[in-house]
Amino acid sequence: MKIIVFGAGAIGSLFGALLAKFNKVVLIGRKKHVEAIKKNGLTIEGKTKLHVEVFSEIDISKVEMKPDLIILTVKSYDTLEAVTQLSPLVKDDTLLLGMQNGLGNVDLIQNMIDIKCVIEGVTTNGAVFSKPGIITHTGSGKTIIGELDGKNTNRIKGIKKELTRSGIPTDISSNIFRDIWVKTIINSSINPLTVFCIQKNGYLLENPIIEKCVEQICIESTKIAKAYGFRFSNKSMIEKTKNVIKNTADNYSSMLQSINSDRKTEIDAINGKLAEIGNSYGIDTPLNNALIYFVKQINKK
Ligand SMILES: NC(=O)c1ccc[n+]([C@@H]2O[C@H](COP(=O)([O-])OP(=O)(O)OC[C@H]3O[C@@H](n4cnc5c(N)ncnc54)[C@H](OP(=O)(O)O)[C@@H]3O)[C@@H](O)[C@H]2O)c1
Repeated sequence: MKIIVFGAGAIGSLFGALLAKFNKVVLIGRKKHVEAIKKNGLTIEGKTKLHVEVFSEIDISKVEMKPDLIILTVKSYDTLEAVTQLSPLVKDDTLLLGMQNGLGNVDLIQNMIDIKCVIEGVTTNGAVFSKPGIITHTGSGKTIIGELDGKNTNRIKGIKKELTRSGIPTDISSNIFRDIWVKTIINSSINPLTVFCIQKNGYLLENPIIEKCVEQICIESTKIAKAYGFRFSNKSMIEKTKNVIKNTADNYSSMLQSINSDRKTEIDAINGKLAEIGNSYGIDTPLNNALIYFVKQINKK
C-alpha cells in the first residue's frame, strides 16, 4: 500500500515507522525532523524499538506518489491547513484516515475533501516527540477505525488488516463518532486538570479534591454528549476516565506537554467544542468554561 502520513510528529512518526515495514510510506513533517530522518533514518524508542529508513518531505506538493491512504496526524488546530495542502492528492480511490483528538475535525476535513474518501480513527497509543529523528513510544494501546456511516466495508477491513499486521492492533467500530466523543469526554476531564496541577495523569486520583473535580467535569461533558444524542451514563464515563488515568498514571498529558514546550494546546477542539455544542443545546458549561479560561491564561497561543 502507498501511504502518506501527514503530520509526522509523535503519533504520525510512530505509525509511519511501523507501517513502513510492509508499505511504501512518505512522512510529511517539519524541516528539522525531516532533515534528521533523511540523514539518519527514523528511530522509535520505548515500548517499540525500531530504526527505519523512510521517505520524508516537508512539502506534500513534492510527493509524486499517488497514495492509497493518507493518515492525518496533525493537531486539531492545524487540520484545515493540512487538508488544504493534501486535497489535490485525494482522488476517488484514496482514503483519508483522520487520527486526531477532539471534536470538529471531520467538519473541517469535509470542507476540502469528498466525504466519501474519509474514514476516522482514535488511538490510545501514546507517543512523544523526543528530538528530530527520534520518537518515544510511551504507551502501547488500541486503535479503532471506522467508516463515517458505520458500515463494515471491504476498504475499512483492508486498512484494519494493514495496520494490525504492521504492529498497530486495530479494531473496526460501527460508530466511530461515538468513540471520538468518548475519547473527547475523557480528555476533557483529564488534560486541563493536569495543566492546572502541573502533574502526571496519576496525580488526579491521588488527591480526593481533584478526583471529585475529574468526576464533575466528566458529568458535565457527558451531559453535553447526551443532549447531542449519545446514550452515555455518567457512571460508565467516570469509570472509563478513571481507567485511563490509572493506565496512564506515569504519563504527562499531551496538553501539559504542549504547555511545557510553549506550544498551542488542543483545548479548543476538546473542552472548547464541548462547551460550544453544550451551549447550542442550552446547557450551562461552567466547568468546561473555567478550564478553557485557565488553560488560555497560562498559554495564550
Ligand atoms: N501523541 C500521542 O500520544 C497521541 C495519542 C493519541 C492521539 N493523539 C492525537 O494525534 C494528533 C497528533 O498528535 P501528536 O502528539 O503526534 O502531535 P505532534 O507531535 O505535534 O505532531 C504533529 C506534527 O505535524 C506537524 N505539522 C502540522 N502541520 C503541518 C504541515 N502543514 N506540514 C508539515 N507538518 C505539519 C507539526 O508541526 P509543528 O511542530 O510546527 O506543530 C507536528 O510536528 C493530535 O490530535 C493528538 O491529540 C496523539
